[in-house]
Order: sequence, then C-alpha cells, then structure tokens
Amino acid sequence: MSTARLTLRRARVDDADAVLSYRRLPSVSEWMGAPPKDFHARFAAPERLDLLLMVERDGDVIGDLMVKIEDAWAPADAVSQARGVQAELGWALRPEETGHGYATEAVEAALRICFEDLRLRRVTASCFAANIGSYRLMERVGMRREARTVKNALHPSGEWMDGYGYALLADEWRRRGRWRLGPFVSPPVDLPDGRM
Ligand SMILES: CC(C)(COP(=O)(O)OP(=O)(O)OC[C@H]1O[C@@H](n2cnc3c(N)ncnc32)[C@H](O)[C@@H]1OP(=O)(O)O)[C@@H](O)C(=O)NCCC(=O)NCCS
Repeated sequence: MSTARLTLRRARVDDADAVLSYRRLPSVSEWMGAPPKDFHARFAAPERLDLLLMVERDGDVIGDLMVKIEDAWAPADAVSQARGVQAELGWALRPEETGHGYATEAVEAALRICFEDLRLRRVTASCFAANIGSYRLMERVGMRREARTVKNALHPSGEWMDGYGYALLADEWRRRGRWRLGPFVSPPVDLPDGRM
C-alpha cells in the first residue's frame, strides 16, 4: 500500500537488521525494552513476522507497524461471531524520522486496512501513560482514550507504570469521514490469515 509519502509492506526476515538498528536506540528501547540477544530468531518467527508491516520512505525502512488481529470476548455460544473482529496496533519509528507526521500517515493507512479492507469492527492500542509521543499519535489518528490502568505494566527501568488504552470503532472511523479518503490505494497489503 502506498500513501502520499510512504509505502507499507509485509515484513521479511531480512528486515531484521534495519529494525534492530532503531529498536536498540535509547528513545525507542526506553518504551519497547532493549532488543533481546536472540532478536533475529524472534523476528523471524512466523507468528511474529506475520504481524509486522514495514514502513518505507524512498525505499528505506523508517519504522514498523504491528497489526495483530484478535478475537473479541463473547459468551461460549457466540464465539464464532467474535473471532478475528478486532486488531491491536503497535509502532516504532526510526528516531531521526520522527516529527514529520510519518507515523500518523502510516497508522492512518493501517486503520484504513483494518476497517475498509479487513472490515474489522474495532482497533485498539495501548502505551505507558508516560509515553507522550505514542498517545499523542493515537489521538492524532482519532483514537479515543478508554482506560487508564494503574501500575499494571513493568517499564524497562524496572518501575511499574500506569498505562493508557485507546480504541476506535469502524462506525467512528466512518462517521469522521475518513472512509476512502486520501491519495492511496495501490494493491492491498497481504495481512495475516490470508484475508487480503
Ligand atoms: C510513537 C512515535 C512513533 C511517534 O512519532 P512522531 O514523530 O511523534 O509521530 P509522527 O511521525 O506522526 O509525527 C508527529 C509530529 O510531527 C509533526 N508533523 C509534521 N508534519 C506533520 C504531518 N504532515 N502530519 C502530522 N504531524 C506532522 C506533528 O506536529 C508532530 O510533532 P509534535 O509532536 O512536535 O507535535 C515515535 O515517538 C516512536 O517511535 N517512539 C518510540 C517507540 C514507541 O514508543 N513505540 C510505542 C510503544 S507503545
């Protein structure tokens, strides 16, 4: 998928070095944790690789987006209706590429994939409450803060920190007039579970 300035494509095993080159930098590892010693093996595991989209600008990888399709909760007699109806998003940008709206552009494209192509009903994202850059991004793309959790997540510093949960429904996306706007769409990204 192409946006005005970016290309989103599925991650490949050989993207590991590019991703590691920014994931290990302090401003990224501060929130995502230091990459583990077996980063390359974990990166290549299909159950992780299949969740990742690479964000490219002028052919260079500038970041990555996680799109993790999930089931919603449902009672036992209705689980089939709740299977694969929502997605959790995650993101990281190469630090020198921040401040230009690239993450906003990439996440809006991911929302478009989720709502307009995959027809999901809800998209969520979460972050440490102290991660201002991340929750401001959620708000820029129109996500709604739904929860503040209290000291539920262990920050890489060792401190238990509060978190924020954000979400957006397909109806909200549609009502905000974002449906099928913008200068894309080139061929859809092939996402997990073969639905595209
Ligand atoms: C979270 C993260 C992706 C946000 O990056 P970002 O650069 O702030 O977000 P964008 O690329 O959308 O850029 C927005 C900034 O560019 C500015 N901007 C410039 N042109 C813009 C445009 N066309 N559209 C939107 N914003 C634009 C905005 O004003 C904003 O700047 P501000 O924060 O000073 O107001 C980045 O900080 C990051 O990778 N952090 C480390 C990893 C991380 O925390 N991951 C999440 C774990 S939960």
